[in-house]
Amino acid sequence: MNSENTLKLTNEFAPGYDNYIADRNWKGPEIIFNLMKPFVRKGDSLLDIGMGTGAASIPFKNAGLKIYGVDGSAEMIRLCSQKKIAEEVVFSDLASHDLHFPDIEFDHIISNAVFHLVGDFEHIVRKVSKQLKTQGYFCFTTFPMESKYLGNFSETEITGIYSKINNDQGLLVYRHTNDHVKNMLHSNGFELLESYVFIGMDDHIENQKVYFEVYLSRKVN
Ligand SMILES: C[S@@+](CC[C@H](N)C(=O)[O-])C[C@H]1O[C@@H](n2cnc3c(N)ncnc32)[C@H](O)[C@@H]1O
Repeated sequence: MNSENTLKLTNEFAPGYDNYIADRNWKGPEIIFNLMKPFVRKGDSLLDIGMGTGAASIPFKNAGLKIYGVDGSAEMIRLCSQKKIAEEVVFSDLASHDLHFPDIEFDHIISNAVFHLVGDFEHIVRKVSKQLKTQGYFCFTTFPMESKYLGNFSETEITGIYSKINNDQGLLVYRHTNDHVKNMLHSNGFELLESYVFIGMDDHIENQKVYFEVYLSRKVN
């Protein structure tokens, strides 16, 4: 699934990103932190996949964790580095099967608002499974697939993943069925602990609520 245009658009969007989310009640970081809070300890390592400007890592940094990141936008990485949230952020295209993470075994891995831009993310789940400690937590979001979206989205060649071109600039976005994500977690050694749909962004400017689905899982083997 081609990421070139997505990363070009993300680079262009990066300078305005923090203001954009500040104006729209960006909920994912708080939802992920609240789900993970009982399981994290000061000094634990955490990888943030698609770290952007670091919004989802800030509560973990404040709780004393060591943060690492990966992103495919040089501009996002530059802005994030200025905030000194992470020990290291590596540049890598997550859509590529050659993606790389910092070379560490992590206590926890998170990803907020990224997989709806990547599409097929099973290779990422496999990589997470390799670099996450057994009993480590993996918490992430997707765009949920519900019948009301069926008209606008077409099923891709992969069962359970639907796509659509989102705007004039040709941004491709994906929805994932709950069954698709559950099966993928299960077949890569994860136990699903919780998943639910939430309003991830309340865009009062465009009068639109954007729904995400959060998954909390644990690596069991
Ligand atoms: C909506 S932002 C989310 C940023 C951050 N996680 C947050 O909670 O604010 C999506 C991020 O995913 C990154 N991203 C999207 N597609 C990617 C890809 N194929 N490879 C690497 N990063 C990608 C973008 O560069 C951007 O930083």
